[in-house]
Amino acid sequence: MLKGKRILLIVAGGIAAFKALELIRRLRERGASVRCVLTDAGAKFVTPLSLQALSEDRVYSDMFSLTDESEMGHIQLSRDADLLVVAPATANILARMAGGLADDLAATVLLATDKPVLAAPAMNVRMWTHAATVANVETLRQRGIHFIGPNDGAMACNEFGPGRMSEPEEIADAIEGLLAPAERPLAGKRAVVTSGPTREAIDPVRYISNHSSGKQGHAIASALAALGADVTLVSGPVSIADPPGLTTVHVDSADQMLAACLAAGRIDIAVCAAAVADWKAARPAGSKIKKKAGMAPPSLELTPNPDILATLSKPGQQRPALVVGFAAETENLVANAIDKRQRKGCDWIVANDVSPAVGTFGGERNTVHLISASGVEDWPTLAKGEVAMRLAGRIALHFGRPPKAEAAE
Ligand SMILES: Cc1cc2nc3c(=O)[nH]c(=O)nc-3n(C[C@H](O)[C@H](O)[C@H](O)COP(=O)(O)O)c2cc1C
Repeated sequence: MLKGKRILLIVAGGIAAFKALELIRRLRERGASVRCVLTDAGAKFVTPLSLQALSEDRVYSDMFSLTDESEMGHIQLSRDADLLVVAPATANILARMAGGLADDLAATVLLATDKPVLAAPAMNVRMWTHAATVANVETLRQRGIHFIGPNDGAMACNEFGPGRMSEPEEIADAIEGLLAPAERPLAGKRAVVTSGPTREAIDPVRYISNHSSGKQGHAIASALAALGADVTLVSGPVSIADPPGLTTVHVDSADQMLAACLAAGRIDIAVCAAAVADWKAARPAGSKIKKKAGMAPPSLELTPNPDILATLSKPGQQRPALVVGFAAETENLVANAIDKRQRKGCDWIVANDVSPAVGTFGGERNTVHLISASGVEDWPTLAKGEVAMRLAGRIALHFGRPPKAEAAE
């Protein structure tokens, strides 16, 4: 897939630099040529000789080398590639990029390039979550720098959390996504999307429910199907049509919704966009509860519904590779959503404000925040279809194959 593509790989000084060697192998297996720039700190972790042997090209480190500058000037180096990849991207090089510094060959090349840049950050979790790094990454994202990772996991410094560099295979997939984007990047992936409200019977004619219209969940199901996924939409009672090109299963209650999700079998992606009632009647009446003159209204005892998101997120062989939940909140939106991601064990949370003043329920637009291990992304207010396409694009990128229009994160 990368035949004929030229990658300029910038290796900075992090412990993950050893993975750059494996990345070169993966990229060359896919047909790309790789040329390396090594920072001074990077050379403390991997030798130029290893990079040179694997890339079968010379390694560039010194901005003021007379021979390098006459044979391949730093400007030409920055242009003579289809993509610049910074892996590992240290906190330091991200700060230098954000600040526009040109204080060594790597930084100068990154400043002088007119080509897309992909960064694979790798650092201690505190460095990654430090306000300075967060601001630098945000600045770089806004300037169009693409990011892959970091992943959650144990780190060389004996700490745990986001900061581990993505695996070479994941980075190679992301590079392929940027340089050879796919028409149907989710082909071969199976997805379940829940949508709409649930209805919890009090008696045969009365129920507990909520205002969810199903518009956002249905749009996500359609967007995933448009990218080639085999989608089962598990829909609560809604008044909108079943989307074409996918399988819709109609349910009423949360119990039925969970059963329908589990009946879908092994899936790769679960997006829980339904507004599932938290509680149901503890003992729904078998016949209509009668109103009798002079009698006090009956009391309604509630019991919790099954937690669909937490159930699908449970670790195990059957767990989908990516579980996305929704958090509809009316206050402390982002803080509650971050907490929900941890409590439920899902990978991402799409948080949206459903205060009546915002008009999300039943409306056509949505303002969401995407919460993942990498942090919080604030998306602009978009039509629900656009939120769906953007989310589907991000899901495709997660699997290493972004669609044409969304060639990167
Ligand atoms: C053992 C060791 C491991 C390090 N690992 C990392 C790392 O994973 N990520 C990071 O951002 N900095 C790391 N550093 C700090 C960087 O090497 C340092 O900030 C350096 O200036 C980076 O320079 P560069 O970005 O030009 O390559 C490490 C330092 C040491 C001594």
